[in-house]
Amino acid sequence: MTTALITGSTAGIGAAFARRLARDGHNLVLVARDTERLQSQATELHDLHGIEAEVLTADLATDEGIAAVEKRLSDTRNVVDLLINNAGFGNKGRFLDVPMADELKMLRVHCEAVLRLTAAAVAGMRSRGRGGVVNVASVAAFLPRGTYGASKAWVVQFTQGAAKDLQGSGVRMMALCPGFVRTEFHQRAGMGTGNIPGWMWLDADKLVAAALGDLARGKSLSIPDPRYKALMGAVKLAPRGLLGGISSRTGRKYGPQ
Ligand SMILES: NC(=O)c1ccc[n+]([C@@H]2O[C@H](COP(=O)([O-])OP(=O)(O)OC[C@H]3O[C@@H](n4cnc5c(N)ncnc54)[C@H](OP(=O)(O)O)[C@@H]3O)[C@@H](O)[C@H]2O)c1
Repeated sequence: MTTALITGSTAGIGAAFARRLARDGHNLVLVARDTERLQSQATELHDLHGIEAEVLTADLATDEGIAAVEKRLSDTRNVVDLLINNAGFGNKGRFLDVPMADELKMLRVHCEAVLRLTAAAVAGMRSRGRGGVVNVASVAAFLPRGTYGASKAWVVQFTQGAAKDLQGSGVRMMALCPGFVRTEFHQRAGMGTGNIPGWMWLDADKLVAAALGDLARGKSLSIPDPRYKALMGAVKLAPRGLLGGISSRTGRKYGPQ
């Protein structure tokens, strides 16, 4: 039986990964800040699918939190075969509206934690000659969209670069770039979503199924929906000024919309 560690497992995309991987018979290590929610998720997945689900409470915006997960990933007696770096959040507002402490927290969770956890996991995976890492980025990585987009662009570049370096090692690395997904993300950030058209919303379970298919096919970048694939193709050709205008109006306004 293989083991998968998922950060941000208790809600949204992380919870969809947990449901799907448990259904497929993987043991799980569930990571987030809310211990009670983690415990009830672990019990539910164990009862439904008969898998072992460990709970690891960690705040990935802190050095201790990242170190605790690094330690678990480096455990050679109880190895992790698949790492899903998924924990993340949004900050409401444009540059200079967002307090610097929140900008730095985002870089820590989206970049430092992803770098350190990937390194901790891949060291053992490479020596065993097998393993996988999915780093959840966003289509915002391809748009001029503040610190959020910049941090997700780092995730894409880092992951694709590391995937190249690991070619032939048996370790797969993939950046996953979802479009809008109905999760707790926007509500937690206090972002209105009223101006986002219905067709742009993706289902978390379908997204995860497509992402795991892409990982199995050995892709280093996954944009799991044909509509977003087409959109991102158009983005490559569109002027940056136009993209900046559209991007800054979508889901970043203050107050309800
Ligand atoms: N939803 C979208 O439209 C969308 C689109 C593209 C990309 N994404 C990306 O997808 C990923 C998951 O987002 P989501 O939409 O599923 O969000 P979500 O529903 O808000 O879930 C976020 C998860 O991350 C955990 N988390 C947040 N901050 C954390 C921290 N400091 N340390 C540890 N765990 C933390 C939360 O649990 P606790 O609060 O208990 O810690 C929760 O389990 C993020 O990286 C996000 O950027 C989302």
